[in-house]
Amino acid sequence: MSSISELMTHDHRRCDEIYANAEEAIGQGDFGGAANLWKEFCVQVEQHFTLEEQVLFPGFESATGMQGGPTMMMRGEHLQMREMLKSIASSIAQKEADDALGQCESLMIFIQQHNMKEEQVLYPMLDDALPQQEMELQINEVLAEKV
Ligand SMILES: [Fe+2]
Ligand SMILES: [Fe+2]
Repeated sequence: MSSISELMTHDHRRCDEIYANAEEAIGQGDFGGAANLWKEFCVQVEQHFTLEEQVLFPGFESATGMQGGPTMMMRGEHLQMREMLKSIASSIAQKEADDALGQCESLMIFIQQHNMKEEQVLYPMLDDALPQQEMELQINEVLAEKV
């Protein structure tokens, strides 16, 4: 059996890999490839956010009664990242490599900080608060669609 922490941390790494490929394509001036990879990255990240916002966070909030704590902060950060994802997509569409790469760098710093907070603080809290087996099934159901 895998913990929530393990499964979700693994998914962060998977998203990072797609990001790296997209960034490389932008750097090479391959805007068609970059647009496809960026779209793929956005889809994967959105699935990850949705899993957190619709399954894990509400489960944690009802199990602990903690509504305005770390989950609220993470939801806010997801909104900010969604805006950054959209803005980068439009820079890629306009073939503005320098602009896209500059924004990518800011996004990556933001994502790494967000992921670190989840991996070091929130996911261990989720592991403690939520029914492990049931969560594993639900996470795998969503993530299985990605393969
Ligand atoms: Fe998150
Ligand atoms: Fe996450």
